[in-house]
Amino acid sequence: MKKAILLAGGAGTRLYPLTKIVCKQLLPIYDKPMICYPLATLMLGGLREVLIISTPKDLPMLEDYLGEGAQLGIRIEYAEQPKPEGIAQAFLIGAKFIGNSGASLILGDNIFYGKLDFYRDALAIERGACIFGYQVRDPQRYGVVEFDAEGKAISLEEKPKQPKSHFAVPGLYVYDERVVDLCRMLRPSARGELEITDLNLLYLKEKQLHVKLLSRGMAWLDAGTQMSLLEAGNYIATIEHRQGLKIACLEEVALRMGFISQAQLSAIIDRLPKGEYRDYLQTVCDEGPSAGPEPVG
Ligand code: G1P
Repeated sequence: MKKAILLAGGAGTRLYPLTKIVCKQLLPIYDKPMICYPLATLMLGGLREVLIISTPKDLPMLEDYLGEGAQLGIRIEYAEQPKPEGIAQAFLIGAKFIGNSGASLILGDNIFYGKLDFYRDALAIERGACIFGYQVRDPQRYGVVEFDAEGKAISLEEKPKQPKSHFAVPGLYVYDERVVDLCRMLRPSARGELEITDLNLLYLKEKQLHVKLLSRGMAWLDAGTQMSLLEAGNYIATIEHRQGLKIACLEEVALRMGFISQAQLSAIIDRLPKGEYRDYLQTVCDEGPSAGPEPVG
């Protein structure tokens, strides 16, 4: 089973003053903290061992919120990234945690909503790495992947001024057990970071990089700017309000995935403050683990 890393780093400078006191990943996306969304994605992928990496300042707050993960039937460890020295540095920080396993990394401000089969398929790949491509209007803000006529990935560039395609690379990655060794070969980029794109290029050079396109029906949002934070919140609110179902409700996901039992959920509910979240979980608990549509995103 692959290990999971949730990278919740960065100073959140683009969101100042929202991030003066509260870290970005604890800001609300409608009715729950941002970190619930990427964590739910990992859990829905079936991953149960998670390392959360954040700044020394923000780590205690995240730990306070999620604890050791037992309430979700998972195991959460924490590690510091003292300086923002790149996404790929997460694998060096997490080297001991990863051990001889493969690893999947998700960025703490990335939100995926839709059927996650693409992710489960990627996690099942034994050799190489798997990244994804998603069509966006403004690819220059992201890592960009270019394909040849047969749909094979031929180039990858980090925030190119002149993007070669409209396909951005979302902040969700899957690697085999060589990931830590390959990260040790990376050198900092011009902006002083160990770039995830450079790691992916090493796999591409070895013809060991799988790139799957996400379907148009999938929503991939990031919440790193004021406007994208608001848009993501509005998006989640719209769907939740329409369906009466919650997205990335961690306790619900834990129950559905069989990580916790109905009795355990019931005990959790007893400790929750009265309110809408508690009422929702009570309904989920009463209906049982397999009632209604399976959670997505
Ligand atoms: C990072 C990665 C980039 C990726 C993006 C997804 O960008 O470097 O390749 O497309 O996350 O959110 P950053 O968060 O540094 O802007």
